[in-house]
Amino acid sequence: MVSIEKVTADSELHEIAELAGKIWHEFFPVILSAEQIDYMVEKFQSYGAMKNQTENEGYCYLAVRCDGKLCGYIAVKPEQDSRFFLSKFYLRSDMRGKGIASEMMQRVFEGAKAHGKKSVYLTVNKYNTHAVDVYHKIGFETVDSVVTDIGNGFVMDDYIMEYKL
Ligand SMILES: CC(C)(COP(=O)(O)OP(=O)(O)OC[C@H]1O[C@@H](n2cnc3c(N)ncnc32)[C@H](O)[C@@H]1OP(=O)(O)O)[C@@H](O)C(=O)NCCC(=O)NCCS
Repeated sequence: MVSIEKVTADSELHEIAELAGKIWHEFFPVILSAEQIDYMVEKFQSYGAMKNQTENEGYCYLAVRCDGKLCGYIAVKPEQDSRFFLSKFYLRSDMRGKGIASEMMQRVFEGAKAHGKKSVYLTVNKYNTHAVDVYHKIGFETVDSVVTDIGNGFVMDDYIMEYKL
C-alpha cells in the first residue's frame, strides 16, 4: 500500500535526508564521481538544504511511503509563470519497477493542475538513461539541454524535459 503525503514535520525532512544520501550513493557512482555525489548531497539534499528550500525557496516535499515506511520522495515548486518544476523524483532501489513511479507522477500532475499550471518540467542528467526513458514513457519531451556550474569545479550536464498538461 503506497501513500504520498506532503511533508510537514522536520522529523520527516531528516528521514528524507537519510534516504537521499543512501539513494545518491547507491545510484549515481556510474554517472558522477564520489566527490561530486558528496558535494551535491550536501548542497541539495541535506536536512539544512531542504529546510531552506521549503522555508525560503517555495519548494514542497512529498514523502512516498510503502506500508508506512519511507521508500521515496518528490520535491516540486510552482514557478511564477505557467510551469510547475519537478525538482526531485526518487525511489529506493528495492521499490523500483513496481509501478510506483507512475503513481508518483500522477500526484505531481494533480499538484500542478491544482496550482493552475500548464506544464511540468524537470532537469535530468543526460547519462541517467533509465530516468530519461521513464520520463519519455510517461509523456515528457526533451525541450533543451543545460550545463549548470554548481561550484567547486562541478557541473550538472542535464536535459530539460517538459510535459504539457
Ligand atoms: C526515476 C525513478 C523514480 C523511476 O522509478 P522506477 O520504479 O524505476 O520506474 P518504473 O520502472 O516503474 O518505470 C516507470 C514507467 O516507465 C516504463 N519504463 C521503464 N523503463 C523503460 C524503458 N527503458 N523504456 C520504456 N518504458 C520504460 C515502465 O514500464 C513504467 O511504465 P508503467 O508504470 O506504465 O508500467 C527510479 O528509477 C529512481 O529513483 N532512480 C534513481 C534516482 C533517479 O534517477 N531519480 C531521477 C532523477 S532526475
